Amino acid sequence: GNWKFDITQSFLSSSHLAVEKESEPEEETDEDEGPAPVMVENESYVNLKKKISKRYDWQAKSVRAENVKICKQFRIKQASRQFQSILQERQLLPAWEERENILKLLSKHQVLVISGMTGCGKTTQIPQFILDDSLNGPPEKVANIICTQPRRISAISVAERVAKERAERVGLTVGYQIRLESVKSSATRLLYCTTGVLLRRLEGDTALQGITHIIVDEVHERTEESDFLLLVLKDIVLQRPTLQVILMSATLNAELFSKYFNSCPVITIPGRTFPVDQFFLEDAIAVTRYVLQDGSPYARSMKQMSKEKLKARRSRTAFEEVEEDLRFSLHLHDQDSTKDAVPDQQLDFKQLLARYKGVSKSVIRTMSIMDFEKVNLELIEALLEWIVDGKHSYPPGAILVFLPGLAEIKMLYEQLQSNSLFNNRRSNRCVVHPLHSSLSSEEQQAVFVKPPVGVTKIIISTNIAETSITIDDVVYVIDSGKMKEKRYDASKGMESLEDTFVSQANALQRKGRAGRVASGVCFHLFTSHHFSHQLLKQQLPEIQRVPLEQLCLRIKILEMFSTHNLQSVFSRLIEPPHTDSLRASKIRLRDLGALTPDEKLTPLGYHLASLPVDVRIGKLMLFGSIFRCLDPALTIAASLAFKSPFVSPWDKKEEANQKKLEFAFANSDYLALLRAYKGWQLSTKEGMRASYNYCRQNFLSGRVLQEMASLKRQFTELLSDIGFVKEGLRAREIEKRTQGGGDGILDATGEEANSNAENPKLISAMLCAALYPNVVQELKFVTKNDGCVHIHPSSVNYQVRHFDSPYLVYHEKIKTSRVFIRDCSMVSVYPLVLFGGGQVNVQLQRGEFIVSLDDGWIRFAAASHQVAELV
Ligand code: CDP
Ligand code: MG
Repeated sequence: GNWKFDITQSFLSSSHLAVEKESEPEEETDEDEGPAPVMVENESYVNLKKKISKRYDWQAKSVRAENVKICKQFRIKQASRQFQSILQERQLLPAWEERENILKLLSKHQVLVISGMTGCGKTTQIPQFILDDSLNGPPEKVANIICTQPRRISAISVAERVAKERAERVGLTVGYQIRLESVKSSATRLLYCTTGVLLRRLEGDTALQGITHIIVDEVHERTEESDFLLLVLKDIVLQRPTLQVILMSATLNAELFSKYFNSCPVITIPGRTFPVDQFFLEDAIAVTRYVLQDGSPYARSMKQMSKEKLKARRSRTAFEEVEEDLRFSLHLHDQDSTKDAVPDQQLDFKQLLARYKGVSKSVIRTMSIMDFEKVNLELIEALLEWIVDGKHSYPPGAILVFLPGLAEIKMLYEQLQSNSLFNNRRSNRCVVHPLHSSLSSEEQQAVFVKPPVGVTKIIISTNIAETSITIDDVVYVIDSGKMKEKRYDASKGMESLEDTFVSQANALQRKGRAGRVASGVCFHLFTSHHFSHQLLKQQLPEIQRVPLEQLCLRIKILEMFSTHNLQSVFSRLIEPPHTDSLRASKIRLRDLGALTPDEKLTPLGYHLASLPVDVRIGKLMLFGSIFRCLDPALTIAASLAFKSPFVSPWDKKEEANQKKLEFAFANSDYLALLRAYKGWQLSTKEGMRASYNYCRQNFLSGRVLQEMASLKRQFTELLSDIGFVKEGLRAREIEKRTQGGGDGILDATGEEANSNAENPKLISAMLCAALYPNVVQELKFVTKNDGCVHIHPSSVNYQVRHFDSPYLVYHEKIKTSRVFIRDCSMVSVYPLVLFGGGQVNVQLQRGEFIVSLDDGWIRFAAASHQVAELV
């Protein structure tokens, strides 16, 4: 006989891997939890859905009784002093002027678009208009509202704010739900949740039973998830005429959304803000010269410089020259220093900066291509000093600093702590708060607190504070001009998170944050020339710049689309991505073993659909946990998702490569990475100084390593969410019992998740599973599509003469003078056969099974017992 089977598929559906999340002790507030997380086979999926719909039937009866109570309590509460005093404050918000209009239009139309400036009261007030209106009616008609937020942090902070406005605790009528955390109860009628949470709920409950209103907030951000949610809602509103949908957006483009929903009505809330003075890098430099070279004639003249003078200064010819140079340097800065840079250009660049000795001596001193980020941070510190010093004509107020990500926030925070002016414990003039999505909710709340008189509040934030979070007392904004953006990286063939310049729209939005209560000031750390000539007008919608694998899987997991052709679903999106992009994604999904040729999800596909990461990284994570080499798999996954921590400065390339070779083993750049990472982890235990030195000596980027550590934590949470690993107290208990020596993380079966972490062969095999079909064969060194390729000089395999196995898997392919593969890892042929994701052929010949792989390129055949022994 001769039959084909897909190894990956049978593998993941075999019984011991059919992971069911063990039932945790149920929180009482969690009775109406969405669908259980893990779906393994179609059968259990169907059972699960039956269970869910039963639960909703039972619920309907108790809802009415609860509503009676809620209406009564609301009537009593309205009379309370606390409620009334906040109400007066609320009624001043521009959104209140449209209250009647909104309610009137909602009574006539199923879908509504509301746009209005950030801070006008959309998120906090509009859901309450609807809820309160219904609470004055009969208990059968009490609204049950879901309002989606693009970020976890805004879901929490808004829910807490709204609960406060209603003079109650969060978790009663107002609640929130984000991945892994929910605060809500059977009395919750207004739920703020992340877009992802609602999409997950739709997987088990397409009809959204019991929900009366869906409010999609911040639709203008055009995240992949919100575009997708709109598509789903477009179908649901047809099936459920009583469900009302409201789209809320911060700026323009309201027409686009209205058109998408059959030209539904649009309400525009008029905004009021105060003017904000806008300054650019050249101004920032002028100001910091003043700070750092106090006493010089130049500084003395700057000292009295008013904002008008600053502006005039900018228009002078000398300044144009500065600007031109800076523009040039920023242009160079854009080029990734780890990519092949042209040496003499970079030399110019260094000389160029040296010409600005006046900028800051310490800047020049610490300046090297390796830690360019530091320059920005030093400039920011100098600007903060200038602002706090108060020798200018602006009023006191809070300062909001926008940085691209967590790592930069940490760096600046630590830098400021070593400055007595900003140190949180010693300074009585400033208090510094970081603000990003991974903070606890108490830490987040701290940013809203008004400091004592005479103390300046400094908030260092990601673009979270751009639209989702409004801090009222901000007068100063410092915009680093950078943000993290998901992009399709052609050289890696996958999604990656990159630091990019913001768009003009982002920059203006950031600037606007300074004009909430009075007129304010904004410093952008890019030149005015850069602003008008190099920044995009607007960010491209996410769906147009990311690979579509993840979206394909999420479409397929929804019952309403599971039998639809992907192309037809995509064409109904608000602004469909290019068809080539979809085609490429489908091929990658097939190569990976997640989607069958007739577009059905495989079991692997089901699991990948619930991991919001690039599918290859997802596969590496899943396999890492299944094969108990979780930690190394996550380290590698984090570097694939972000970037390699190895840096190679132009003037020290050789030395850097040599250092990397010291980490090398088993012909693998990824295993070298693991060693380097481990060393860094150890060094961080000895303190900041030690880890800084470790990075310097070994040509590693501390910033990248930190970002990787944070990604690893997020990945672990994701795996724990879908039941592939167990964390926390319970896991530690089990571990104690089983005397595991690990780090408290267990796999789904309760075994230590890292018992195979020291097996390099296995780790290479996992890589093969994730990266296939990115394979080259030595001697030939041909890939399936490019013909001849070369190993990059920065790879540990560059000078290797002999490989034990002729196959290398790689991640990234770059084309300069020739086609190079960058990081690569040797694999033996057996993992290639077993984890390659391709169709494996098994034949019975003379009483023995012959396993063979032939994808038209790699040909291999072996007896089955050989395969089993050798992996
Ligand atoms: O959604 P939109 O940007 O239109 O405004 P919002 O988030 O509803 O904010 C309206 C007002 O509530 C602003 O003045 C905020 O400062 C205030 N607010 C607050 O004090 N605390 C929060 N956690 C959220 C909003
Ligand atoms: Mg809002």
